[in-house]
Amino acid sequence: MSGPVAVVGGTGPEGRGLALRWARAGVHIIIGSREEQRARHAAAEIQAQCGGNARVEGAENSVAVAQADVVMLTVPFAGQAELLKKLKPAFRPNAVVIDATVPLAAEVGGRATRTLGVWQGSAAQQTAELVPPGVAVVAAFHNVSHTLLEGDGPVDCDVIVCTDHEPARAVAFELARKISGVRPVDGGKLENARIVEQITALLIAINIRAKRQSAGIRITGLDAWVERPRRD
Ligand SMILES: NC(=O)c1ccc[n+]([C@@H]2O[C@H](COP(=O)([O-])OP(=O)(O)OC[C@H]3O[C@@H](n4cnc5c(N)ncnc54)[C@H](OP(=O)(O)O)[C@@H]3O)[C@@H](O)[C@H]2O)c1
Repeated sequence: MSGPVAVVGGTGPEGRGLALRWARAGVHIIIGSREEQRARHAAAEIQAQCGGNARVEGAENSVAVAQADVVMLTVPFAGQAELLKKLKPAFRPNAVVIDATVPLAAEVGGRATRTLGVWQGSAAQQTAELVPPGVAVVAAFHNVSHTLLEGDGPVDCDVIVCTDHEPARAVAFELARKISGVRPVDGGKLENARIVEQITALLIAINIRAKRQSAGIRITGLDAWVERPRRD
């Protein structure tokens, strides 16, 4: 992976946190927003936080998507489908979309500790239905809190990576490994995203009871193979 990563919704806390960690690791980042000015402003702030040789730009979402082979999707579930329909013509052929969207019930007036039923099975499977043929969808980064990402220290969390496309899984693994402390775990097919998305609602419930914002997950009992996805 050598080109830029477009972070759609990168003005929000989750996208910003991921962008910050990757920019520090030397990844060229294009922050995407519905408003170009908002994207540029967020990009300038992230650039200032990173300093040095980091390369962070801002662009309207479709411009960002058109410039990148890897697109990180960090928007609320309520806006996901409409946004993807608008972005559809902008995707590069064979792009990889990494989706961290969690369909929280809070977005329709329900509780943040519950998820909505999604007809396709999960938010990530909905994304797979809405992107052009040839674009691969990976579900990942749902269980990493933005409060950990925006800090400087190691992030104590596994990232479960679900997809039906092995080369795309390798891209998500590479990005996960760029965040200190994060271990990518092969979570199998994209359909397993529904479980990973629901874990975020559980983590929110745990955070509320523990009065924290930092709960994450670790999968135990695994050998190193989980860290080496097949590339076929
Ligand atoms: N926050 C976390 O710790 C965390 C952890 C794991 C997963 N997630 C998931 O990651 C996603 C982003 O989380 P977040 O907390 O960063 O969310 P957020 O702040 O609510 O939204 C992120 C960005 O999405 C854009 N956006 C908002 N409403 C939109 C709409 N209707 N259509 C298109 N774009 C819209 C906004 O950017 P512009 O206004 O600039 O376009 C906003 O800054 C969510 O699905 C969340 O469930 C979050």
